[in-house]
Amino acid sequence: MEGALTARDRVGVQDLVLLEDYQSETAFLNNIKKRFKEKLIYTYIGSVLVSVNPYQQLGFYTPYHMEKYQGVNFYEMPPHVYAIADNTYRSMRNESSNQCILISGESGSGKTEASKYILQYLSVCSASNEQVEYIKSRLLQSNPVLEAFGNAKTHRNDNSSRFGKYMDIEFDYRGAPVGGHILNYLLERSRVVHQASGERNFHIFYQLLEGADDVLLSRLMLTKSPDKYAYTNQVSSPKYNSIAILYDNDLKYTIDGKCAKVSSICDRRDFVAVQKALKVLDFSPKNIDELFCIVASVLHLGNVTFTQNEDGHAVVERQHEIQKIANLLGCQYEQLLQALTHRTIEANKEKMQSPLTVEQALYARDALSKAIYGRMFDWLVSNLNRSLTNKDLMRKNVIGLLDIYGFEIFKSNSFEQFCINFCNEKLQQLFIELTLKQEQEEYRAEGIEWEPVEYFNNKIICDLVEERHQGIIDILDEECLRPGDASDNTFLTKMEETVGKHPHFITHALGNSKLRKTIGYEEFRLVHYAGEVTYSVKGFLDKNNDLLYRDLKVAMSESKHDIIKQAFPVTELARLKRPETVGSQFRTSLNRLMDILMSKEPSYVRCIKPNDAKMSGKHFSIVSYNTYRFDETLVRHQVKYLGLMENLRVRRAGFAYRRTHEIFLNRLVLIQSVQSYTHVYTDVTRYKSLCPSTWPHYDGSPRKGVDVLCKYLDYKEGEYRLGKTKVFIRFPRTLFATEDAFQIRKHELATIIQSVFRGWRQKKMFMKMRDAVTLLSAQWKKVLAIRLREKRKKATVNIRKFILGFMTRLQPRCAENTEFLDYVRYSYLMRVKNHLPTSVLDKSFEHAPAALEETGALLQKLNMKNLTLKYVKSVTPQRKAAMEEKVLASAIFREKKKGYDESVGNPFQEKPRVEQLKPKMLAMIDAGEQTLYSCSVTKYDRHGYHPRPRTLILTSTATYLFDAKDGKLKQKIPHQELTGISTSSLGDNVFVLHAPSDKKEKGDAIVQSTFVIETITKLASIAKKDKEVKIVENSSIVHDMAGGKHGRIDYVVGNDVSVTKSKTGLVVVAPAR
Ligand SMILES: Nc1ncnc2c1ncn2[C@@H]1O[C@H](COP(=O)(O)OP(=O)(O)O)[C@@H](O)[C@H]1O
Ligand SMILES: [Mg+2]
Repeated sequence: MEGALTARDRVGVQDLVLLEDYQSETAFLNNIKKRFKEKLIYTYIGSVLVSVNPYQQLGFYTPYHMEKYQGVNFYEMPPHVYAIADNTYRSMRNESSNQCILISGESGSGKTEASKYILQYLSVCSASNEQVEYIKSRLLQSNPVLEAFGNAKTHRNDNSSRFGKYMDIEFDYRGAPVGGHILNYLLERSRVVHQASGERNFHIFYQLLEGADDVLLSRLMLTKSPDKYAYTNQVSSPKYNSIAILYDNDLKYTIDGKCAKVSSICDRRDFVAVQKALKVLDFSPKNIDELFCIVASVLHLGNVTFTQNEDGHAVVERQHEIQKIANLLGCQYEQLLQALTHRTIEANKEKMQSPLTVEQALYARDALSKAIYGRMFDWLVSNLNRSLTNKDLMRKNVIGLLDIYGFEIFKSNSFEQFCINFCNEKLQQLFIELTLKQEQEEYRAEGIEWEPVEYFNNKIICDLVEERHQGIIDILDEECLRPGDASDNTFLTKMEETVGKHPHFITHALGNSKLRKTIGYEEFRLVHYAGEVTYSVKGFLDKNNDLLYRDLKVAMSESKHDIIKQAFPVTELARLKRPETVGSQFRTSLNRLMDILMSKEPSYVRCIKPNDAKMSGKHFSIVSYNTYRFDETLVRHQVKYLGLMENLRVRRAGFAYRRTHEIFLNRLVLIQSVQSYTHVYTDVTRYKSLCPSTWPHYDGSPRKGVDVLCKYLDYKEGEYRLGKTKVFIRFPRTLFATEDAFQIRKHELATIIQSVFRGWRQKKMFMKMRDAVTLLSAQWKKVLAIRLREKRKKATVNIRKFILGFMTRLQPRCAENTEFLDYVRYSYLMRVKNHLPTSVLDKSFEHAPAALEETGALLQKLNMKNLTLKYVKSVTPQRKAAMEEKVLASAIFREKKKGYDESVGNPFQEKPRVEQLKPKMLAMIDAGEQTLYSCSVTKYDRHGYHPRPRTLILTSTATYLFDAKDGKLKQKIPHQELTGISTSSLGDNVFVLHAPSDKKEKGDAIVQSTFVIETITKLASIAKKDKEVKIVENSSIVHDMAGGKHGRIDYVVGNDVSVTKSKTGLVVVAPAR
């Protein structure tokens, strides 16, 4: 709602205290009318809530709204019944005080609805646990039960409460509801037997007829239609006309009295709810059954009729009806039958049965119906109370909710209206007592100037009604009790005699001629604070007496059923004193109620109905706005009798807020100690924090402190006053400003407290850590020092032992050197292990200490053996062959020919050089011969010494020389024909293959090979001619030439290698070895 409300708050003021023209009733009305048009049904007068019934569901009673109103400043949010509920609840908790909320207003103005919203709010917003939920549900469930039995459809309200209800909700120290208590007042019992046209009996009759299943109905001997029962099917002319239902003719009421069905009510559904609620409230199945039996019995009673016998005495027409009733009520049939038609009278101490006339019998029947129903209702309430009682003895605070009928002014007013209006007078008294009078008195006590407010104190009217011996109630009682022919008219006369001079009492006889026209002979008029009401005295005596013949009481008290038995206790019969009259009873219970309310802090909800036609805006189109929707005459009347203008006047003259100086400075919050039930005050929040002079402490008196504070806050002259003990603030807005400032300040304070606390906590933690660190490091240092000392000690011992061992190392093993020697041995072995040679060529080995020289040598040998073995194992046959060739080369050339040393590192070609082998060449080689080696060589002719490029191929049987270009075989020297191989010791690469020359064979071949060592070694190996290799040193090689001639190759030592032709042959220049 608040969004919508605040947005629309331009429409009128939300606190009537802020009205410019607060004296004007019209301005007042206009304001609530403007707001009502905008669906702003709530308006404040200070802390009093004025509520206008919207007659339609406005969506501002949701859990969301309940949450919004929780714990907020009363004036912060738009007016709402939740704000009242919340304020009351907070006050109860914070100040640990008892509270009450008085809801008043005309019938249909929304009191019961408001009380339900308040109850819901209190239930939702209070603390909770499983047990509390249990009691909450009971509190809430008590409503449908009470409404079923105590509410009825009237002209003004489809769900009108026909009894006054005061409910105490008890809260524990945590603010959780823990129990409740209900007081009921003056149930309108006449409704049981008679309803005005268009009205209904109590809901439960219709609910039972509509909602009960066939089994229950047949057990109760009922049929489903209300029109079968006289009490629910009344046909009578409109008798009860209120000034407010002038419009009945315009509306569609069914004025034939048959209004069992009401569109806004679903009896069947409500009956289910009632049954459920009764179960929740722990009513036993037996009791529930008895309740329905009683309701049914009343319906049957209504159908009992009488005829007159010859003697003029009443006789029951259909006796089986009585049988049913006796059955349902658990009483004796004959006894009941007799009691309905006779009464026992005592004459001269003799009891006699006196028959009743038909009229008397009908009276007795109705009296019984009313009594049964009324007493059942009382029983119901007391049983509800049993279910709601909290037996815990701990201290509890209560919030009371009073929902009681408002002023009733009909065209014809009777005893009921008299009682109701008296009740409202009393409530007005209370209001005056608590607000006006107390307020003024408080100002006086506080020494504050007060501009007296003119208000009407209605005590004079209350006295007129209730004063002992002088008041109307006592006069009525007297007439009821006195012997002789007392009647309603004698009562009127008696009143005229006793209170005739009272300014608020007028009768036809007492009035002037003008007044006489408006008052009948059997009427009297009371000038109530809310207006004049003319009462008809007819029926006053009867209704006050509320006579139920003793015989009927006896029949009831002997019932077998619990409820009836309890409702008509035997003790009542034994009492000799006449039972208290209804008027006296009511006065007593009202005074008790006043005491209850006086002991509490009251809050007010004043309900107003905007029209008498239960109309919301939805019905707008069919009726004119002014007449129906917001009926100004009607509302003006209510504003008047609710005393709202007076209320406003007092508020404006007075101060909106007052608190003791201490509380204002410190805003003490009351906390209840759980253990001791004593009160402990804790200054949780402080306004004094708003002023540097009063914060954090003010040494002077609280009054002076408040003075300083108010001045500092710049309160204007007229806005506040300082009383002796209290500070008074005139306008709520001044307080809001202070509260707002305080809320902001609170955050600042919280921040400061937080930061100081955090700093303190941090520092504390730091100190703790620092101490810990110091301790730890000291301990650690100690540990380290100890370890170092131990280490050093050990080291000293070791060094000493070592030195001694060293000194005696050469001696035989003894105690002194054992360790040293072991160490030396170990370290040597470790060194050997870590530095073992990995190659057979590596001859190095760890040097052994003297004592282990032999071991060292053995180990070295062993290692070498090992390596060799490993090496040998790793050698392949090819490699072996290659190495054998190398060995052969060594045998041939080592230290004999220059160039050998360089060749050692280069491995020999293992296979023929395939690129040199042309197919032509291979073709020339004999089959079965294996080509084992090849290389490119240069061959020099024996004649002319021309160099020729040749390919040399070695097979297993011969040496072949092919023309390197065309692959033609130039020479073949079988191995067995090779007689020698000659080469020089110089660094050249020329060698001669010696072979016999005949005609066929070419003889010696002069060959030059890049791989001279390799080629010669291969040839020597393959041809097994190693012994035939000749190395000439610094001389010449002679070779054969054709025709037995010889050529010569001369070797000359020189730096560069060259092969040149000379006259005698070849000259080879090459470096010497
Ligand atoms: N705040 C409200 N919102 C909506 N409808 C309401 C409100 N208050 C009252 N009414 C309507 O008015 C009817 C009469 O209200 P009720 O509380 O029973 O009146 P009272 O107890 O004063 O006789 C309710 O049944 C309901 O329809
Ligand atoms: Mg009501």
